[in-house]
Amino acid sequence: MAPLFYTFTFISLLAIVSNSVFAEPQVPAMFVFGDSLLDPGNNNNLVTLAKANYYPYGIDFPEGVTGRYCNGGTTADHLSELLGLPLIPPFNNPNTTARNMLQGVNYASAAAGILNNTGRLFGNLFSMDSQIQNFEKTVQEIESIMKSETKNLIRKSLFYVSFGSNDYINNLLIPFSESSRKYNPETYTLLLVQEYRRQLQTLYDLGARKFLIGGVGPLGCIPNQIGNSRGKSDKCVESTNNLASQFNTKLKTMLQDLNTNLPESHFLYWDVYNMSMDIINNYSQYGFKYPLRACCGAGRDKGQILCLPILPMKCQNRSDFVFWDPYHPTDLFNSIASKAAYNGTLQNYFPINVEQLAQL
Ligand SMILES: *[C@@H]1O[C@H](CO)[C@@H](O)[C@H](O)[C@H]1NC(C)=O
Ligand SMILES: *[C@@H]1O[C@H](CO)[C@@H](O)[C@H](O)[C@H]1NC(C)=O
Ligand SMILES: *[C@@H]1O[C@H](CO)[C@@H](O)[C@H](O)[C@H]1NC(C)=O
Ligand SMILES: *[C@@H]1O[C@H](CO)[C@@H](O)[C@H](O)[C@H]1NC(C)=O
Ligand SMILES: *[C@@H]1O[C@H](CO)[C@@H](O)[C@H](O)[C@H]1NC(C)=O
Ligand SMILES: *[C@@H]1O[C@H](CO)[C@@H](O)[C@H](O)[C@H]1NC(C)=O
Repeated sequence: MAPLFYTFTFISLLAIVSNSVFAEPQVPAMFVFGDSLLDPGNNNNLVTLAKANYYPYGIDFPEGVTGRYCNGGTTADHLSELLGLPLIPPFNNPNTTARNMLQGVNYASAAAGILNNTGRLFGNLFSMDSQIQNFEKTVQEIESIMKSETKNLIRKSLFYVSFGSNDYINNLLIPFSESSRKYNPETYTLLLVQEYRRQLQTLYDLGARKFLIGGVGPLGCIPNQIGNSRGKSDKCVESTNNLASQFNTKLKTMLQDLNTNLPESHFLYWDVYNMSMDIINNYSQYGFKYPLRACCGAGRDKGQILCLPILPMKCQNRSDFVFWDPYHPTDLFNSIASKAAYNGTLQNYFPINVEQLAQL
């Protein structure tokens, strides 16, 4: 008993000391599930082409190169800071031990999707189903320390989940893919939302209650889609945006249904699509100069070739850009987006934000 007692005293002392500097965490922990938009380096030691653990990724991040697909922090990083939490550690890292899982773990994996076969052309990854299995391992680790308090911790924690982009870009939209032969956009979207529903319900069954679900952004506006399209430069690809909208519409309905049917659950939908379109359309009001062009990359709109160390690194003014590389937004975009989710309006039909969700 004694060591446990001292440990708790030590943690409370730390809390008192750090409270003078940092705000009290508004949730005990945050668990993050997603793709490269949220990956903190879980793919670094997997056999895959989908990793970003090289310069200039991380050029503006306090910890430098970590595997994050950004010059700075992801929305998971910015949200954890706004919630008064430390940086959430990656699941797939030997330094992440039971003790530093108590304020959350990030399972996100670049190229991953709702479906197991999404993103496989890059190599290994943690699909949503395997991210959930990894969460179950975390629960066991936390139980070894928190014992019966574990249930309470999970119930109060925030589950930030964001999937779907790769299920389109790195699955359905790949020419001659199995999915594009088996499904049309409509039946494919139904399949995605049905699988996603099962996955979210599994997290609920494991005790999760507070969910922030990121919708899919305007996929037709990412420099990769624009650069590879035969359309006009600096113009979003409408057909791809329509796919994203279709998915979001069905996702919203599914989440409303879960809210109704799963007692004490709170599924908060984050309208990333609308928010991104607002920033892209009104970019100068947000301080950006280039809404549809990658800061680091090459080819048309700098969207056709990835941001690589061998390329001359010409991107000095990162905060002039909405997009950092052909697929991922900059730190400044992520920071603006996270603040809006935290205490702004996430969408205009369900009047609650992350700060209020945390307080529930
Ligand atoms: C683990 O932490 C040590 C010390 O901070 C660091 O040197 C090492 O690179 C880390 N390992 C991984 C895989 O991140
Ligand atoms: C996806 O893969 C995981 C892990 O390999 C497996 O447990 C799960 O059943 C698979 N999901 C589907 C829908 O096949
Ligand atoms: C952003 O742009 C859209 C259309 O381009 C416009 O309708 C909207 O009012 C703008 N929003 C702001 C905050 O200016
Ligand atoms: C970066 O911004 C500064 C100040 O606005 C400007 O003088 C410079 O030309 C910019 N550099 C590039 C490469 O755009
Ligand atoms: C939102 O939160 C930030 C950071 O805590 C704070 O500075 C800002 O005043 C808040 N805005 C509103 C509208 O509450
Ligand atoms: C998205 O924005 C459009 C135009 O600004 C608005 O009409 C629509 O209601 C918004 N959708 C949601 C779900 O907030």
